[in-house]
Amino acid sequence: MTQTDFSAWLGAQREFFDEALANSVASTSAAKAPKPLRDAMTYALLSGGKRVRPGLCQLAFESVSASQGRRSHEQSPSTPFLPAALACEMIHAYSLIHDDLPCMDDDNLRRGQPTTHIAFGEATAVLAGDALQTLAFELLAMQPDAELVRDQALLLSQASGAHGMVGGQVLDMLTPGADCGLAQVDAIHRAKTGALLTASVLLGVRAAQGDVDRWRAYAEPMGLLFQATDDLLDLTATTAELGKTAGKDAATQKPTLVAAVGESAARERAHQLAEQMADAVSILQVGETSALLLCDLSRYLLERSK
Ligand code: IPE
Ligand code: IPE
Ligand code: MG
Ligand code: MG
Ligand code: MG
Repeated sequence: MTQTDFSAWLGAQREFFDEALANSVASTSAAKAPKPLRDAMTYALLSGGKRVRPGLCQLAFESVSASQGRRSHEQSPSTPFLPAALACEMIHAYSLIHDDLPCMDDDNLRRGQPTTHIAFGEATAVLAGDALQTLAFELLAMQPDAELVRDQALLLSQASGAHGMVGGQVLDMLTPGADCGLAQVDAIHRAKTGALLTASVLLGVRAAQGDVDRWRAYAEPMGLLFQATDDLLDLTATTAELGKTAGKDAATQKPTLVAAVGESAARERAHQLAEQMADAVSILQVGETSALLLCDLSRYLLERSK
């Protein structure tokens, strides 16, 4: 890892992740799925996301490995972070399919293309999401180290489930934007988005046999910052820039950070979260290049335009 610009670093990994995601469908039980289901899964998975979650998993893995004097990804073809990285992206892809359904956010545009239920029908979209979720755990379970599988499966299931992403989506659905304050929005964001982003980091740390709990002080504000910016972009960016319909949160009275505290305080809060991340880097005990990349991640999350 010699690159210290997170955006450029992530951009350089994207093709590798896209190919690995495609291979993972071809080399698992998904290869034998009924074609319409496999097509919908592939569509949702390979339609061009930023790949932030697998990137986080790799970055955490390489930061811990480098600090332990092990060889980094650039020097070695070995990629022990990969099953976890792909599993996190599969959970994310499933969460987006379901998030876009008419019974949830009712969106017809995602990553500049029709959402999965528009392209394949609602029933197939629901089932493609279900199948991506189980495929994530199939990938983890294919690893030979049983303790690693157990620890990663526990972290990922808790982050994705009733007290994580799914629970957060329920709170998001039940909380009117007009009635919520900062504490409530924080709790919703921590669950619906933060938990999976945090888990993406922690699974990478675990793959490198690092101290998972030490990384929480960095990874938790990171997850909140990600959603803070998503809320701000919904307000300020265009549909063309985002590849998803802009301005929907206010129109549908979503419990966003902007709804809770207003745009200017939301930006202030985003900066505070970025500072929390930068402060936490010092306790991670990683090398200088990793530390620079991890600090730059906070800048990227503040400044990203999609
Ligand atoms: C969008 O996630 C949904 C949220 C959790 C805010 P991303 O912004 O990571 O979406 P893609 O994967 O790059 O399309
Ligand atoms: C989605 O949050 C969080 C998920 C669990 C998918 P949003 O509803 O704000 O995400 P977008 O804006 O549709 O991508
Ligand atoms: Mg939503
Ligand atoms: Mg949505
Ligand atoms: Mg949003």
